[in-house]
Amino acid sequence: MEKGSININEIIKCLSLVATTIHENPRQALKDLRRIGAEVDNNIPYRDGHSIRVTDYSIAIGQELGFSDQELLTLEVAALLHDFGKIGIDEQILLQPRKLTDAEKVEISMHVMRGYYMLAGFSEMIEALKGVRTHHEWYDGSGYPEGLIKSEIPLIGRIIAVTDAYDAMTSERPYRKAFSKKIAINELKRMASHQFDPAIVKIFIKVLEKKESIKRSN
Ligand SMILES: [Fe+2]
Ligand SMILES: [Fe+2]
Repeated sequence: MEKGSININEIIKCLSLVATTIHENPRQALKDLRRIGAEVDNNIPYRDGHSIRVTDYSIAIGQELGFSDQELLTLEVAALLHDFGKIGIDEQILLQPRKLTDAEKVEISMHVMRGYYMLAGFSEMIEALKGVRTHHEWYDGSGYPEGLIKSEIPLIGRIIAVTDAYDAMTSERPYRKAFSKKIAINELKRMASHQFDPAIVKIFIKVLEKKESIKRSN
């Protein structure tokens, strides 16, 4: 499909299929969901594979935490769909080479509840949708949409919050260059206990270091 032209009917059809197969055939459901995730990435600025990378980072954290297959499945669904509500946001807001105004930030923040409500009819995915709904909550209670604090935020929401921010920082934006991995990690550390669950930040840094050492030994 062409960049920027989304076929929402196709996506809904695919989601309905996923909802019916997710428990009996999770492998197939995830394959379909990855296609949806890629389609979301292709249709929201910046079309650079954000949802897929956030998903892969999140799964690595889940594995490190010893998640069961069911928990990993829930996390994967949540991460693939976390920015679903960005479909339809005015692209001009995101593509201009300057920082966002407060009004624009409010518009973008609505993607959380928009995504949640767009997907809420798929009750089979209700656990995963908790991650969609809470991925912009802050550990100290100053996030959105509900201002949940610490363990009130579902664990999958706390995981996606970290991987989402890391991926955003290490990706180029129209108004800034991509941060280096080192700077992004320092920022995660600086915001641990404020924006992020400090335990998840620690585990994610471990995951990234492992990745780096595997790369070096190859
Ligand atoms: Fe988001
Ligand atoms: Fe995101």
